[in-house]
Amino acid sequence: MTPVLPHFSYTADGHLCCEGIDVHGLAQAHGTPLYVSSGAAIQDAYTRVARAFNPVRAHVHYALKASSNIHIVALLGRLGAGADVVSGGELERAWLAGIPLRDITFAGVGKTAAEISAALDGSRSPLAGRADLPSGVRPEGRGRVGLFNIESAGELDRINAIAADLRVPFEATIRVNPDVDAHTHAYTTTGRRENKFGVPLSQAEALARDNPGSIRGFHVHLGSPIASPEPFEEAIDKLLPAIDRLSHSEPAVLNVGGGFGVDYGGQAAQPAPIEVFGQRICERLADQVNAGALRVIIEPGRCIVAQAGVLLTTVQYVKDAGAKRFVVCDSGMHTLLRPALYGAYHFAWPALVGPGMTPTSLRPEVAPERLTISDLVGPVCESSDFLATGRPLPDVSPGDLIAVFCAGAYGQSMASTYNDHAKPAEVLIIDGRPQLIRRRDTAFSLIAPELHL
Ligand SMILES: Cc1ncc(COP(=O)(O)O)c(C=O)c1O
Repeated sequence: MTPVLPHFSYTADGHLCCEGIDVHGLAQAHGTPLYVSSGAAIQDAYTRVARAFNPVRAHVHYALKASSNIHIVALLGRLGAGADVVSGGELERAWLAGIPLRDITFAGVGKTAAEISAALDGSRSPLAGRADLPSGVRPEGRGRVGLFNIESAGELDRINAIAADLRVPFEATIRVNPDVDAHTHAYTTTGRRENKFGVPLSQAEALARDNPGSIRGFHVHLGSPIASPEPFEEAIDKLLPAIDRLSHSEPAVLNVGGGFGVDYGGQAAQPAPIEVFGQRICERLADQVNAGALRVIIEPGRCIVAQAGVLLTTVQYVKDAGAKRFVVCDSGMHTLLRPALYGAYHFAWPALVGPGMTPTSLRPEVAPERLTISDLVGPVCESSDFLATGRPLPDVSPGDLIAVFCAGAYGQSMASTYNDHAKPAEVLIIDGRPQLIRRRDTAFSLIAPELHL
């Protein structure tokens, strides 16, 4: 077995396996496009993150937006993760996956009154009163979320008013916009002054001063993916004096967000390993934590699930267009949006290779004359519909399976049904056995809501 990534290896005869299971069998059983994730890889990544931040006993709140399948969230919950959610829908998923509400932080710039009410009182949940929930699962009386991450003064007013109406207390952090450059794509930079997220530090401090009963500390999230710890250090240096100025009997909360980078292959420099992020961030926070003055939360998504998943797609046509070869697949921007949206790089390679073509990493060393420059494209009627462009790839034919690596984060969770394509099915290898954790949509399931069926 030759590993490309932990838990993803090619056999001696060139078959890609996930945890020793040939992905061709999974594609045959469930069709393509198919997301396949390794439970062991998720577990290993989670353990690495938790260990890296153990010096400050940081609580890991998994950011559901990276991959929100309820079975993946449940796996992480069993490992001890809390959840970071950004909508009422994610809130219900996290809770249904078994994460207690007190271990959930509710973030997001646009929380509606209905979402806030459900987060404070389970009887307001859209699931309340449903007879078809698993037995013993009832949102009524489930309590309230551990923390809101508040993004504006208006949101705090709204939460104060709803909590007063419902006669329940709440706890929150204020999201600070520290005006720190995370050196990532403009669309995923969230901590610059011109971004819509959070409030300036002076305003956050004023809100905390005026609401001492509910505001426990501060939250910051700079963007994603971030390649090095320096932006975190810069933000923490801005925030720590403000944390010291909060006069509470309990430890203040500092949520340093997520965004820790992972290697996707390609030309880009490899990001720092999570251990380096952990060490450098913990060094900044250890004194306050050890003095009992600070409780730390992190909310990573990508670094836990990205490398744990591949997208399997079947070649439909191979089209030579002069200078270029187009490999037309059954996946594209509707299945994996990151290349179209951010120009993101994902290493892609056939799931069955001949001698000498086995990749041994995300940067395979294969003689260039054995490869053809190709665009890996999908069926959608947009020229942005690609998984990879200008990529040296082995020859492939219709019917061949291609694996798009590091697709476990922001893959299925950003998938759409544009052009009326069904969302992919999803398999999780759990305890060494493949489990279908999401069945494929069908043409009927897409049309049914319009026919009120
Ligand atoms: C507020 C917040 N927290 C956490 C995350 C998770 O980021 P990542 O998956 O890169 O760790 C995001 C991602 O956009 C976010 O917006």
